Amino acid sequence: MIEKNIVIVGAQWGDEGKGKIIDFFAKDANYIVRYQGGHNAGHTLVVNGKTIVLHILPSGILHNNTIALIANGVVLSPEHLINEINMLEKHNYNVRTRIIVSELAHLVFDYHISMDVAREKKLGKHSIGTTKRGIGPAYEDKIARRGLRLGDLHDWEYFSCKLKENVDYYNFQLEKFYNFKCVSYEDIIDKIFLLKNYLIKISGDVSEILKKSQCDKKFTIFEGAQGSLLDIDHGTYPYVTSSSSISGSFSLGSGIGPCYVKNFIGVVKAYSTRVGNGPFPTEIFDELDSYLCKKGNEFGATTGRKRRIGWLDTVLLKKSIEINSFSQLCLTKIDVLDGLKEIKICVGYKNKNGNVRNDKIPRFSKEWTMISPIYEVIEGWNSTTSGIINFEQLPYYAKKFIFRIEEILGIPISIVSTGPNRSDTIIRCI
Ligand code: GDP
Ligand code: IMO
Ligand code: MG
Repeated sequence: MIEKNIVIVGAQWGDEGKGKIIDFFAKDANYIVRYQGGHNAGHTLVVNGKTIVLHILPSGILHNNTIALIANGVVLSPEHLINEINMLEKHNYNVRTRIIVSELAHLVFDYHISMDVAREKKLGKHSIGTTKRGIGPAYEDKIARRGLRLGDLHDWEYFSCKLKENVDYYNFQLEKFYNFKCVSYEDIIDKIFLLKNYLIKISGDVSEILKKSQCDKKFTIFEGAQGSLLDIDHGTYPYVTSSSSISGSFSLGSGIGPCYVKNFIGVVKAYSTRVGNGPFPTEIFDELDSYLCKKGNEFGATTGRKRRIGWLDTVLLKKSIEINSFSQLCLTKIDVLDGLKEIKICVGYKNKNGNVRNDKIPRFSKEWTMISPIYEVIEGWNSTTSGIINFEQLPYYAKKFIFRIEEILGIPISIVSTGPNRSDTIIRCI
């Protein structure tokens, strides 16, 4: 049985299919909370054959019974938020009356995007491969204590003065250091002025709402964006995002105590992908890469970039399970492996120098170049799993693959996803 209140996060480098799984769980939820990241995320939901891509709105929003909360830990592009609300309303989802955005959420402006683009350009071949949505610079402003928050819109004089200071600060850097085009204060202030009343109307105190929901024993889902290996502290630094994407950040990102949740669920893709640069021990470089990319439609929902593909890496997953306190996993995209003769699972790393088996993940850049994966090879299945909703109907070797992952990781796989549709889902034990 699922205990009330859950945190669902990605266990790999993002794009594990969190959106689909969160949408699946959300049918019984009262509140869905996005608590970190920004519109760098991209979650594709397919409901009754209709595809919806969300970047900032919580993935549970397609159920009309849910109230969507965007909490303090998120960095928010006001324009993007409103465009996304409009897009969903065109699809006949009522959003405006079901969304509350924390007044403490920091805002993303054009200068954050320009800085992101300029920095990536200057880094050249050493670039992070960011989504260029201004997320890193917006979090920097928050930590540097010069950021502007949604609630600052209540004090227009303060807001406009602080914005001017920030524009001047960034234009100096853009022009003098990056040799990059400056941003226009007038353009930014005019845009936000037009959105101001709308934003104030949908803003509120998310921490208070959650406190009340706790008293009322409501079911709340906290949804993580990105993935654990992109976490600013525990990920493959510096090739990470700028927020804490592991499960523990639900508390600081939403303003509710950590005891509010007892159940942490990880979403794992049956293989690995990453978009952007950085270490990837099990990356596939032969023709299987383009085969799986095409079959799994592995193109970023935010930037359209091709995702890099690799085999499932249980060394990284063990670390992910530890740092997130996962009690169960949801395994997605098993159907993408249909028809492969053999499937590899990385069960350890060997040191290139000494052939030494190592179950620890590297922590510093150079260490990543010193290891290569040790694989266990599993027999594939020659039939389709696509759309299967009953575990017993899975091919024998598909079940064996799932059992073996559970055995290596020592944790149950409670949901298996067999296709992008909401209905392509096997429930085993939740
Ligand atoms: P998220 O960022 O973790 O929400 O994942 P994305 O939505 O960015 O990427 C996952 C992609 O895989 C999307 O295109 C989903 O529609 C799709 N997807 C999710 N689960 C499955 C599955 O079990 N099988 C297949 N074939 N596609 C899936
Ligand atoms: P969802 O929620 C996959 C990656 C970028 C880049 C790094 C830093 O859809 O799983 P950023 O723009 O955050 O400064 O980029 O993080 N990245 C993601 N990769 N899925 C995501 O979100 C991502 N959000 C950021 O590609 O490597
Ligand atoms: Mg995604």
